[in-house]
Amino acid sequence: MKDSHGRVIDYLRISLTDRCNFRCIYCMPEEGVCPMSHDEILSLEEIERLVAIAAAHGIKSVRLTGGEPLVRKGVEDLVASITKMEGIENVSMTTNGVLLPKMADDLKRAGLNRVNISLDTLDPQQFQEITRVGKLEDTLAGIDAALEVGFSPVKVNAVTVRRLDQDFLGFAKLSIPRPLHVRFIEYMPIGQEAADGLAGWGKEDVISSKELLDRINADAVAAGMEPLMPADKNPLGWGPAKYMAFPDAQGTVGFISPLSRHFCGECNRLRLTADGKIRPCLFSDTEYDVRAALRGGTDEEVSQVLLEALGAKPDEHHDKVGTERNMSAIGG
Ligand code: GTP
Ligand code: 5AD
Ligand code: SF4
Repeated sequence: MKDSHGRVIDYLRISLTDRCNFRCIYCMPEEGVCPMSHDEILSLEEIERLVAIAAAHGIKSVRLTGGEPLVRKGVEDLVASITKMEGIENVSMTTNGVLLPKMADDLKRAGLNRVNISLDTLDPQQFQEITRVGKLEDTLAGIDAALEVGFSPVKVNAVTVRRLDQDFLGFAKLSIPRPLHVRFIEYMPIGQEAADGLAGWGKEDVISSKELLDRINADAVAAGMEPLMPADKNPLGWGPAKYMAFPDAQGTVGFISPLSRHFCGECNRLRLTADGKIRPCLFSDTEYDVRAALRGGTDEEVSQVLLEALGAKPDEHHDKVGTERNMSAIGG
């Protein structure tokens, strides 16, 4: 499947729910989102049907996101069905990890290939401040569970924010003893939380990947370590991260730079929201309603909506950073 700018689109990100068991200050309000109603969100059967049709058009990699995808009932069954579909090569999930100790085994058995776990700080107090309700030890236990059951690769996503003064070298060092791929993500001011300034983070809080790499390397050298060098081998993935590694480390350190490095030219993805809208671009609020076609239409009609959304992918986001929907309703 190619878009009108010649890019191959083979990656579909699916938000399974806008609900979450955390309340991260940059993602949703304290009282949580006003959740989509049962009728509004796509059923698992509707999602399965869409994935099968998308796979026939060339989608190879599917990522399940949220909110928190693991709070959606029946997620293991969905994984089992998608992973068996012809044309689907890889099924992954982005999660806060809390439910992994309970669910990793079943998910692995269902055929899930890999997980990316969101973790923004290694300080227990700060973790609670950011997530409002989460405990650091729960997410750390989720990372352990992911490695134990054999997901590969296992990635850790840390959104970087200047005023949080996170322990960047501490994060990067997690990649040394175990096959963990730690990725630093430039904070994107997105959704109502950014518009309302609830987290209190502004543009001045964005740390560019270049600045961050220099800082980590300076701290590493000061601590008597070798600096990060370009990785020999990238972990499997469909996303925009650029990878570095410490010598002899089992994992890598990745940088995702939505603000300082435009990766729109390499864009390979479409997004599906929990309420059945296809988003051609993260930063564009233009959406295509595939729910109606899934509920009353033929496969041909579903395909038409998919192809219409594909045709509407912009060449780039033209410096527009921000969305009307919260990140929790888009899935990152
Ligand atoms: P893999 O590389 O396949 O492991 O996945 P990924 O990096 O695409 O997925 P993940 O859900 O872990 O996303 C990591 C970060 O990249 C999140 O902060 C996303 O919001 C961001 N991201 C993913 N796709 C895009 C995109 O198309 N545009 C922008 N600006 N950011 C994106
Ligand atoms: N900027 C950058 N990354 C974000 N994520 C959530 N909100 C933002 C934001 N405003 C990350 C989450 C998760 C991934 C899907 O997106 O931490 O790992
Ligand atoms: Fe939940 Fe992720 Fe949003 Fe935090 S950032 S509230 S873990 S969806």
